[in-house]
Formats: sequence, C-alpha cells, structure tokens
Amino acid sequence: MRNPLLSAGVVLALSVIGIAMPAQQSRPGATATMQTTAASEGRRPWMDLARTPPMGWNSWNKFACDVNETLIRETADAMVASGLKDAGYQYVVIDDCWQVSRDKDGTIIADPQRFPSGMKALADYVHSKGLKFGLYSDAGTRTCQGRPGSEGYETEDARQYAAWGADYLKYDWCNTNGVDPKIAYPTMRDALRATGRPIVFSMCEWGRSNPSTWARGVAHLWRTTEDILDCWDCVAEWGGAGWPHILDKQVGLEKYAGPGGWNDPDMLEVGNSGLTIPESRAHFSFWCLLAAPLMAGNDLRDMKPDVRDILTNKDVIAVDQDLVGQQGRRLRKEGNLEVWDKPLEGGAHAVILFNRGKSEGQLSVAWVELGMPYAAEPMVRDLWARKDLGRIKGTFTTRVQPHDVVMIRVTP
Ligand code: GLA
Repeated sequence: MRNPLLSAGVVLALSVIGIAMPAQQSRPGATATMQTTAASEGRRPWMDLARTPPMGWNSWNKFACDVNETLIRETADAMVASGLKDAGYQYVVIDDCWQVSRDKDGTIIADPQRFPSGMKALADYVHSKGLKFGLYSDAGTRTCQGRPGSEGYETEDARQYAAWGADYLKYDWCNTNGVDPKIAYPTMRDALRATGRPIVFSMCEWGRSNPSTWARGVAHLWRTTEDILDCWDCVAEWGGAGWPHILDKQVGLEKYAGPGGWNDPDMLEVGNSGLTIPESRAHFSFWCLLAAPLMAGNDLRDMKPDVRDILTNKDVIAVDQDLVGQQGRRLRKEGNLEVWDKPLEGGAHAVILFNRGKSEGQLSVAWVELGMPYAAEPMVRDLWARKDLGRIKGTFTTRVQPHDVVMIRVTP
C-alpha cells in the first residue's frame, strides 16, 4: 500500500528543509534506509531520532504541576536502579509548570523555587546517568496550565532548550486561537533543527486536525486523541478517557505510523492507582502492539515489583521496538472479545487476545488470519507467562481473564 502522503511533492518539500525520508517508501513502516539529503549531510538524519518509538518517562500523568528538580533527579536515579534504563527507556521529560515567566529580553525563566539549581544543571545530572532530558512548551500564548507559551518566541525558546541540553520537546496546543497547526508545528520543528542539537519533537495537538495524515516529517510523534485518564472506563466531558476508549480511536491509523514518525495514543498510566495489575498489563501490551511511544507516567521511585515487571518485559518491549515499525491492527471483535495483530521482522507476529468483559472468556486465533499458510506450524511464546509453548498447528486457543490479555509471539 502506498502512503498517499508521500507524494513526490511532499518528499521534495521535506528534502528542501533537510528532512530525510525513507528510501523506496512503500508505506511508512517499510524497511527504512534513511536517505541523507544535501541539507542533512554530515548529520544524523532528523527522522532517525525516532527510528523506533521513543521510550522514557513524563511527569504529567502522576505529578501534574507538582514538579521540581528533586523529583526529576530521583526519577533519573530510579530509572537506572529499577532496570527501566536497561530495558530501553531514556528520556526524562518535565511536562507543564516548570516555566514561570520571561525576562525583559523574552528569555524563558524556569521556576527558581522549584528548580533552584537551574535547568542546565538538571539536564547535566540526567545526562550523567546516561539518560536524556526533555521539556514541554505550547504552540499558543500560554500552556494548558497558564504558563508562558512559545508563540512568537520559537527561535528564542529552541535556542534556550538547546543551550540547557534538552533532547526532547513536547509541544502542546492550548491557547492557540487562530493558529494553524500546519504552520505552528513546522515553525517549532525548524527552530529546533536550526539549533543543530538533535531534539525529538513530540506534537501534542490531541488529534484535532487529524495529524496522522500530515505530521510525518513535521514531528517524530503526534498525539491522536485527548488526554488519557487513570481509569479503565471513564470518559470526561472534555474528551479525556481511560485507555480502552483511546485504543478504539487508534483503529484505522495504523497506515500512518512507521520509522521516524509515530501515532501517539498518549503516555502510559501503567502502575497508577486507577488501574488493576491486569488492566495495566493489557494497557502496556496494546501500546507495544500499536508501536506507540512508551512514556511511563507513574512514580518510578515507588514502584511495586509487579508494575516494574510490566514496564520492563523485554519480549513485549521488543514488539514495540521491532524495526519494521508497523503499527498493529484489530483483526476481529466479537462483543467483549478481540484479536489484534502486529506483523514483526522475519514474518513473525505479535498477537493480543483481549477480554474487555467481566467474566473469563475463550479466544482463538488461526494462523491463516495472520496471513500464514494453512499448514504452518509456528513457534509460539506466551509473552506474559514468559513461556515457550512449542510449535502449534492451525489455531491457538486460550482462556483470557477479565480486563486482561494473553499476548503471544508467533514465529514461523
Ligand atoms: C494537555 C496535554 C497533557 C499535558 C497537559 C499539561 O492537556 O494533552 O498531556 O501536557 O496539557 O497541562
């Protein structure tokens, strides 16, 4: 399938601004040799910054505005000590509320009470742990929490973030009356690129203008929905919702994700108090099947072993980070029972058997549904039981507990 976005015109436009597109792109996730262009020669191609979905931690889901440098330092320490760093997590991102004002020259000022040592010292500390440092701003006049936004200050802010040592910017969409996202986001992307520092650009426009269809080449990840909430089934009046609702909104977006640019169904709620362990496990499984960015959103300093075991399951993370970069899709839904599939390198598949119901269910998947030959007898591994089940012919059948998944890897 050819991605309609990657028309010759779009590729040319991106090349002009130095954004390398995957060569021979038959779809965004096709094996991607990132081309260098004249403008990006000698540098790492911009899209390579997110060759696979970014992994890290963000303060918002658990701490909201209650951020300070001690929390960030301790989170960096915990990311290393808990094994999350070894599992692939690297960005430590401060969300809203770190900024308080601008000085007379327009330079953005970090809260001196909450960040007394300053952002440069904090970034240096995060870097000293072998991790990367991220910040948040907004394309409007003010952030969602009323702090100064970057509208009109894109160049100054990008330079300041780069001078501090930022490696990641999440860029929100509050207070943007009259602003066109197709202008505002490229403006900040260009300002970041002009600093010469590699900075992952995370677009947080909540899916309003259907960014999946246009944000490839503009950002490395783009939010597809309103905010995720820490619950199984809640829906807020303003659009925020528990992860199963957000999951439903990803159906059909799979064709737009691929190396260098990812649909972002929002940060993880794994380990937060509104979800049970099976619900957290199912949530994490799906974000990996969707090739979603994996930004933990819990308190890493105070993590129960069963939560840590979810966030660090290497087999499941490998599904997210698979180099083909194809987002998974729903194969089948029968009431509360669903089957989802993500094709992986080498003709393998990750399959999720999902039970949304309140009582135990039974689910099957036939290998022919995955496009495998009828006679196939692939190896099957249960990724949460961490158990090889051997070669299985024809169909795999399993019981699935309520609000839980069975996730398997099927290898020809
Ligand atoms: C918006 C974003 C959230 C978070 C908050 C911060 O709601 O979607 O992810 O960044 O703003 O105020």
